[in-house]
Amino acid sequence: MTHAIEIVNARVAYNGKPVLDAFSTRIREHSVVAVIGPSGTGKSTLLRTLSRMNDRVPGFRVAGTVRIGGEDIYAKGVDVCRLRRKVGMIFQTPCMFPKSIFENVIFGLKHQDPGRRKEFPDLAEKALRRASLWNEVKDRMHKPAPNLSLGQQQRLAIARTLAVEPDILLLDEPTSSLDPQSALAIEALILALKKDHTLLVVTHQLAQARRVSDETIFMEAGRLVEAGPTETMFSHPVHPATRAYLEGARDA
Ligand SMILES: Nc1ncnc2c1ncn2[C@@H]1O[C@H](COP(=O)(O)OP(=O)(O)OP(=O)(O)O)[C@@H](O)[C@H]1O
Ligand SMILES: [Mg+2]
Repeated sequence: MTHAIEIVNARVAYNGKPVLDAFSTRIREHSVVAVIGPSGTGKSTLLRTLSRMNDRVPGFRVAGTVRIGGEDIYAKGVDVCRLRRKVGMIFQTPCMFPKSIFENVIFGLKHQDPGRRKEFPDLAEKALRRASLWNEVKDRMHKPAPNLSLGQQQRLAIARTLAVEPDILLLDEPTSSLDPQSALAIEALILALKKDHTLLVVTHQLAQARRVSDETIFMEAGRLVEAGPTETMFSHPVHPATRAYLEGARDA
């Protein structure tokens, strides 16, 4: 069986300083996996490694094997543009271009498929519907996107990513800058999107990890300490470090 993501003994370093070490995991298609662990532990680095976002960071090195849909993404000759279409990333703070809502949704499509220009309005609508934003913006598609609320901007960032039809969505603390209501809207979206995508969600909010994920990975100091079904890990963590983190973070 091909996994959506398979990491085998990955070692990742910045300027010779190891950040991920002996990291192995497999992620099933159409699952939501939460990645939790203390600050500075390598969660964002893990996501950036999966989308080759760090290729241009000087001193960044990856060893071991990282497969997306069965393909070794660090093998020679891999088309990084094609990989980025398969693997979309969503960040803590939505990045809006100082353009209209419409232009923001089609931003990736325009670069990827300029020949489909006539279809852009339909594709934009489809992506906005999938991101549960269409009803809120359909009457102001040509108004500036930066005027939207932060929660709407985050759904717009998701719509922009969905428009290029990625298999995998990597979300790095997608709700930590949002109000509780907007955060819940994103959580509902995550649950709906797993029908068609595989999602990896980094979060410091344990209740959120529990609500949205099928499996959880607990990381500490660049290592995968424990991984498994979310409910099992939260109710019966095996490793003392996992237990300590879950208890400490719960009290925080
Ligand atoms: N571009 C970079 N150059 C050098 N070191 C980096 C770079 N990015 C991250 N690091 C280091 O790698 C380690 C892991 O960082 P990372 O951002 O992946 O952690 P994190 O788990 O996402 O933390 P947080 O929960 O605070 O977001 C840290 O020690 C960090 O200082
Ligand atoms: Mg981070």
